[in-house]
Amino acid sequence: MKKLVVFNWKMNPSSFQKAKKLFDFSLKQSRKLSAHLSVVIAPPFVYLEHFFYLLNSKFKKEKGISLAAQNVSFKNEGSFTGEISAKMLKDIGVSYVIVGHSERRYLFGENDSLIAEKIKRAWENKITPILCVGEKKRSSFSSAWSFVRKQIEKDLVFLKKREKNLVIAYEPVWSIGGNKPVDSLRASLMIEKIKSFLKERFHLLLPVLYGGSVDCQKIDDFLKYSQIDGFLVGSASLSLREIKCLLTKVDNF
Ligand code: 13P
Repeated sequence: MKKLVVFNWKMNPSSFQKAKKLFDFSLKQSRKLSAHLSVVIAPPFVYLEHFFYLLNSKFKKEKGISLAAQNVSFKNEGSFTGEISAKMLKDIGVSYVIVGHSERRYLFGENDSLIAEKIKRAWENKITPILCVGEKKRSSFSSAWSFVRKQIEKDLVFLKKREKNLVIAYEPVWSIGGNKPVDSLRASLMIEKIKSFLKERFHLLLPVLYGGSVDCQKIDDFLKYSQIDGFLVGSASLSLREIKCLLTKVDNF
């Protein structure tokens, strides 16, 4: 399976100038990659349209990078102040949307039924959802799996057997935003569990990524496991040195 690296910038950087520098650099790096690696960038909403035009000029269509939104409304249009719909995202060339990220679940109170609706809106508009799942606290493998399985069951209530537009990201919440990634063997076993569950239940073979404190140094451990189809990267995606190193390592593995 092709590897996928998703850069989730979260609410960074604070100016368009800095965002453009980061984007231009990532684009330059993506041009050097083989066809086995796809790069997705999830900037804040306000930068998306501009980046779309950078990727699709009159003279050239860039293939190396796709755009993701970090959130989407559960509605398609109407009186929903502050919301942005999947329809609008599709209209400005967005291909993916991150849904169910733990920061949205726990800081903004998003529950599984809302997440399921958001995923449905994404599918209706031909946008691929990147569904984030993961246990909240460090716990035994079996209790972590039971937590993750329930999340998947509830978040994917609208999943149909032939739906192929879906990426899952396993992000244990306690491993995000620091120097504490999950043990790579354990992450690979969890990813295998998620894949076999989706295969048994829906006859689907879907890409499953790992996310949580991934940087250029720690990625080596994860690359050893072929079950891991790629990475959802937060803070390291804001550093030019890390971007270059991460993409080179994943591509050369
Ligand atoms: P960090 O890579 O900063 O741990 O963030 C992970 C994440 O939340 C990506 O969505």
